[in-house]
Amino acid sequence: MRHLMSPLDFSTEELDRLFDLASDIEKNPDKYSKVCEGKKLATCFYEPSTRTRLSFESAMLSLGGDVLGFSDAACSSASKGESVSDTIRIISCYADICAMRHPKEGAPMVAASKSGIPVINAGDGGHQHPTQTLTDLLTIRSLKGRLNNFTIGLCGDLKFGRTVHSLINALMRYEGISFIFISPEELRIPDYIIDILNEKNISYKEVISLDDVMPELDLLYMTRVQRERFFNEEDYVRLKDFYILTREKMSKAKDDMLVLHPLPRVNEISVEVDDDPRAAYFKQVQYGVYVRMALIITLLESAKN
Ligand code: NCD
Repeated sequence: MRHLMSPLDFSTEELDRLFDLASDIEKNPDKYSKVCEGKKLATCFYEPSTRTRLSFESAMLSLGGDVLGFSDAACSSASKGESVSDTIRIISCYADICAMRHPKEGAPMVAASKSGIPVINAGDGGHQHPTQTLTDLLTIRSLKGRLNNFTIGLCGDLKFGRTVHSLINALMRYEGISFIFISPEELRIPDYIIDILNEKNISYKEVISLDDVMPELDLLYMTRVQRERFFNEEDYVRLKDFYILTREKMSKAKDDMLVLHPLPRVNEISVEVDDDPRAAYFKQVQYGVYVRMALIITLLESAKN
């Protein structure tokens, strides 16, 4: 039985198979509309979410399965002091697969170690968000036709943004990827990631100005400043509007550059950019459903053996 804790849990070959399945689901949704009949997905969300939870639920319903769960720790027995390990033992009796989001780094991993069903990390604190990464990779592969040989700019809150940490981890395994980290000094990418990039000799640079690097980018991954992970409101207010992607900034970018964003967006992409054909963040949401469908099928299959 397999779980998904980090994007590195799948080899690049396994990811290719997962993305092929997701693309087939996109083309032939009817073929998959009953494959999870009689199966149940539990969504255990101890932290707010719109997209990720609904995307999982939509994915399971599109596969003919059912969903149950909670969307707020206050509505679960966690509020009575129940441990994640106990909760997952209980959930294992009610469902066939579980997607868990938790504010504590590593909580889904603790759950997986005690679980009788596959557990998917749907975001753990500022650490990882592997299913967002699968979404990002499928979007890039579908719209660019490849997962290698490009320059990607990651912009905004690189310190607390778990989607960024997961995506860098995953992209490091592909050939010819060059990273440009665009952030204010206070929100720089963590040192442990820089250490890995240095160790693997992967090309990267850190800059503060988005304007300066815009013409170099094949992909721009914008992120929200993660208010809930700041220690004080004052710092958040000072940094929240540090980057705003506007039509004027887009005029400096390549004609085929793609703009991605895990969403929710706050102010960092002006709505006037939404109509630009290079804005891919709403398409990304749809790819997120296909890839979660493919993931549910794959992990349920692994639990059979
Ligand atoms: C992201 C998250 O939860 O980390 N959202 C998402 O799942 N699509 C990004 C964010 O909250 O900024």
